[in-house]
Amino acid sequence: MNYQVGVLQFEPELLNPAKNLKKMKELLEPVKADLIVLPELATSGYLFNNLDEVKSMSEDAKTGKTAQLFLDLAIRKNTSYVVGFAEVENGEFYNSSMLVNPDGNIYIYRKTHLFYEEKKWFKSGNSGFKVFEAKGGVKVGLMICFDWIFPEAARTLALRGAQIITHSANLVLPWCQQAMITRSLENRVFSITSNRTGTEVNGDKKLTFTGMSQILSTKGDIIKRMNKIEEGVFITEILPEQADDKTVTEFNDAFGDRRPQLYKLRNDK
Ligand code: ACM
Repeated sequence: MNYQVGVLQFEPELLNPAKNLKKMKELLEPVKADLIVLPELATSGYLFNNLDEVKSMSEDAKTGKTAQLFLDLAIRKNTSYVVGFAEVENGEFYNSSMLVNPDGNIYIYRKTHLFYEEKKWFKSGNSGFKVFEAKGGVKVGLMICFDWIFPEAARTLALRGAQIITHSANLVLPWCQQAMITRSLENRVFSITSNRTGTEVNGDKKLTFTGMSQILSTKGDIIKRMNKIEEGVFITEILPEQADDKTVTEFNDAFGDRRPQLYKLRNDK
């Protein structure tokens, strides 16, 4: 099936959700695609300084402003979107992403591996690595940013049938974009890393984000890599079913040749 996938890269403004939602809408309105991935914490910005800021930015996954915008876009434009947002449920805060489908369904992933000061604000995600159907029944697995350094995340999603790994990110370390080539290649899945650009300053703290959002093939080829600072949406066409073929050589299958009984550590629970 020919499937149009896209990645959106932009510079959200810290603690300015109205401006960020407006910018995402303006960038997405002219674009046609089947699935588009947006950055981590795209509505709120990233560099929080206290819990009150986190509280003021956190939303209900199904009724918040991020859900409202993307439900409207998904239904009107017949597109699936994955976008990162700060989630609140029962007084707990999560660094989450939502998959919003044209049929009005919303699925949530809560970031499993929190990075640096995120541990001060957010609870580690308890959603696990589930695979969801996006538009057209294409199977997508959601990861967020620092999940990349734990190969178990992408492997679990791929073993559960993900054809595309969506990777909403606010990357600050220099290694992820190259590492994701291996994540795609070893799992024979497409991956879409949507990273943000720009620098955030809050009090004494400052972080610069690395951009270079990318779409990778099931063989780890770079279909597209944006530069460090540009804002915009890039769309390309893929065949998701290529991810169902795990063949490496006529004698090797990346999943069929696995020997999980030998990978188990004595202390693994
Ligand atoms: C990160 O996980 N946002 C680096």
